[in-house]
Parts: sequence; structure tokens; C-alpha cells
Amino acid sequence: MKEAINRPVKAIIHLDQLRENIRLIRQHLDSKQKFYAVVKADGYGHGAIPIARVAQQCGVDGLCVAVLDEALELRQAGIHLPILVLGITHPKFAQLMVDNHISVTVSSLDFLKQAKTYMIQGVLPIHVALDTGMNRIGLKTGEEITGLMHELEQSECYQLEGVFTHFATADGEDDNRVQKQYEQFQHLLSYLTIQPTYTHLGNSAMSIWRNHYFSDIVRIGIAMYGLNPSDFTLPMPLPIKPILSLETEIIHVHQLKRGEAVSYGAKYIAKEDEWIATLPLGYADGWRRDLGKQSVYIGHEKCDIVGVVCMDQMMIKISQPYPVGTKVELIGQHQSASDLAVNIGTIGYEILCGISQRVHRVYVDK
Ligand SMILES: Cc1ncc(COP(=O)(O)O)c(C=O)c1O
Repeated sequence: MKEAINRPVKAIIHLDQLRENIRLIRQHLDSKQKFYAVVKADGYGHGAIPIARVAQQCGVDGLCVAVLDEALELRQAGIHLPILVLGITHPKFAQLMVDNHISVTVSSLDFLKQAKTYMIQGVLPIHVALDTGMNRIGLKTGEEITGLMHELEQSECYQLEGVFTHFATADGEDDNRVQKQYEQFQHLLSYLTIQPTYTHLGNSAMSIWRNHYFSDIVRIGIAMYGLNPSDFTLPMPLPIKPILSLETEIIHVHQLKRGEAVSYGAKYIAKEDEWIATLPLGYADGWRRDLGKQSVYIGHEKCDIVGVVCMDQMMIKISQPYPVGTKVELIGQHQSASDLAVNIGTIGYEILCGISQRVHRVYVDK
């Protein structure tokens, strides 16, 4: 779907703040650690290409995406950094990955056995995923690793660039499960007969709060975009700030008479005469229906959303008949994606990734 550039709804992405966040995170890391910027899901809704370009200018060491198409999009945009696809890719794409210098995540021996049959030339850089308790992807046992090592020793098609794991509770207070996963990682590493260039385990949460569990590469997503990975569970020690704000304008104003109802289902009924403004975005833009009990801001004035959120529009209660064109903040100085998320029982990530493609992204850089 195309971005709607001819309506007043904008996600403003502050690239100067992105640079600052990268600088702050980098400063917090060990100087030996490689910084891989995670730009999957279109850069968590911020636009993978512009984010990757800035990350590249800032000297990050590599990028992570979830699926092959995201990696190819970056290559087509001229990004030359190493790219790791974190999800599982079909082995039939092995040669395409080699040709585009893209590293693949390997989660089974079967992948290696099949991928080489699709390769004509070159060497595929692989990162082996070890499942230490997330129970999502990866090899789980020493026996499986031994089998995979055997295959790697036999084959000249692969280069063992990395071995990694991912933590399920790195953004929580309790360290027990993290410790267990870490020990399991160490245990599984002992089955390696070929040493990888890198072992890695750090996402934003691990790198910020638990960087003593050392990781050659850190895979930094949410913190780079300026959000606390735990939203508010753990205090954020770095002065990172969100890089995205979401703005719109009032497109219609009318007076509601006492007893009149707003929107589908007529669920909001005015208790007195009041002013209502209509905003030109709705759940098709990522402002989900369950955000219908939240507020937005006109200047410093907090205005409640009233009635259910429609697909393309929603209504707010305003204290006075503001003119059409008045600016409205949905995410920004007064409320972050994390604030909204905790109010509706989700996480900041989901709010950001949920901002749909229809929303015009505007990049600002000081
Ligand atoms: C394997 C893996 N590594 C790193 C990340 C980045 O995580 P975060 O955004 O919390 O830094 C993710 C994100 O989901 C992931 O799946």
C-alpha cells in the first residue's frame, strides 16, 4: 500500500536522535563488541532503509533483519554492511544469499544438507541458532550440534560466522531464567568443534542491563529507536529518547448536543453539549480500536478519544472549537509508544510496528 502523503497524518522520525541513541548505546557497550542494528519489520515501523543508512553512517558493524526480502531490500538500496537474517530461510535461497553477501540463520542440520544442493558457487556465511529456553528456533541438544559440526567439517559451502541464542526474559527483574539460559548456551557451545567468528546473545535488554553476559555481537533493536525494552519494568540507565512522533491535524469540528452519540455502535453519548473534533486516522493506520480509551494532545491539553475508533477516522472531545488544521500529537512529547502500550496491555514494540504503511514517514535531521 502506498503512503498517504496528501493527508495530515505524519510519523516524524528524528534521525538526529537516532544518531544520539546509537552513540549512547555504543558508549555503554564494551569496545570489543560489534553493534548490529536490528532493522526488521521495516525498522520497527520507522523505515528500514533510512534507519540502516544512518546506522551505516554512524559506523555500526552490521544489520539484522527477520526475513530474506528485508535483507534484499537493503542491498538494493546500496547498504553494504553485513546483514544477518534472524528468521528461518528456505534452503533454496542459499545461492541468492551468497550472491548478496547475506548471512543466514541455521536452525537444523537439514538446512545445511539441502542448502548446498542449491549452491553453484561461493560460501554461505551461517549463524547457528541455539535454543537455550526461548523454544522458538534453534538446535537444542549437544547431539544435534555434533551432527551439524560433522556436516560443516565435510562441506566447503559454509563459513561458521556465528553461533547465537536469544533470551526469553532479558527485560524482566528476575535473573534466574537468564542465568539458566546462559549456562545452557555455554554448555551447548562446548559441543562446537569449529570455532565461530562470533558468539552472540545480546538484544537491547541483555546489552543494557546484563552486558556482563558477554556477547561478541549485540543485536540492538528497540533501544536504538529510543524505547525502554521493558517499557517501565526496569529503569533505563541510558538517556536514550524515542525517535518517532506521530502527529495529525483536526479535519472537522462540530458541536454535539446533550444525548447525541458518537461513532459506530453509538457507545459514547454526550452528557452535555460538547465540542468534538474528527482526526483523519484510525485502525487502518495502526491506531487500534483498543487505543480508543486513550487521549491525544493539542498543545498541552489532554483530549480524550470518544466513541469507537473507525478504520480511517476517530473523534476526540475538545474544550473549545479549535480550527480545522490544529495540530494534534498522538505519540510524542506528552506520551510515548510505551505509555500507550502499557495502558492497553501490550508492549511499545507492537505500537511502533503497528503504524501502518499508509502513514507518511517524514525524516528530520538537524
Ligand atoms: C533474535 C533477535 N535478536 C535481537 C532482537 C532485537 O531485540 P530488541 O529490539 O529487544 O533489541 C530480536 C527482536 O525481536 C530478535 O528476535
